[in-house]
Amino acid sequence: IQQIVTIFVGLKKKNNLQHLDSMKRIIAPSVLSADFGNLNRDMEMLQRSQAEWVHVDVMDGVFVPNISFGFPLMKPLRKGTDKVLDVHLMITAPEKYVTRFVEAGADSVTFHYEATENIEECIDLIRKAGAKVGISIKPGTEPEVLDKWLEKIDMVLVMSVEPGFGGQKFMPSSIAKCEYLTKKKQELGLSDLIIEVDGGISAANSRLLFDAGAEALVAGSSVFGAPDPEQAIIDMLNS
Ligand code: DX5
Ligand code: ZN
Repeated sequence: IQQIVTIFVGLKKKNNLQHLDSMKRIIAPSVLSADFGNLNRDMEMLQRSQAEWVHVDVMDGVFVPNISFGFPLMKPLRKGTDKVLDVHLMITAPEKYVTRFVEAGADSVTFHYEATENIEECIDLIRKAGAKVGISIKPGTEPEVLDKWLEKIDMVLVMSVEPGFGGQKFMPSSIAKCEYLTKKKQELGLSDLIIEVDGGISAANSRLLFDAGAEALVAGSSVFGAPDPEQAIIDMLNS
């Protein structure tokens, strides 16, 4: 009996480990916090770094109370890296622009659940244009609203700050949302669905989010504000 118990425990451990092994850890530095006067230098740093994605925050001054940048910046970003360009649209009526962002070089386009009545149209347009599809929810939006869309998309972006500005304080309520989405992924067998979290993330909280099932973490000020940005990325990956 002891032998059987040992084998069983061994199998269980192995399964748990396999689960952990299959989890990805991706850091997506947000160029919103880069120095636009030294964009080439910052892009070279990202290119050398362990970051797999580059996060691109587009704001229209309507959906959020801030304006960042749009199509003209896509060109130098696409030229500056062969990493995944992860475009986060904080704009109203994203269906009007998603195709152009894919044409401009986006590998994934994430739009906000709260920004459109035409979710299905957005999903279809992004797919048709050939990019991965993400939907983002603001801190006040419950993840249940995405239940019916999870099977149709590649990624959920959980905001852990109110969208609009870099450098804000992390909201821990995002952790329970990751746990909910991780449970949903398991229930629905959607192991490829990526949970990404955005806002106030550093090596001080990255571990909590990875443990809750997040696989991609956006980090702006904690990377570009660090004395050694490449090391800041490594610290989050090793947290
Ligand atoms: C906020 C943006 C974030 C932001 C993150 O609206 O979506 O991507 O740049 O910046 P930090 O990491 O400084 O909170
Ligand atoms: Zn973002």
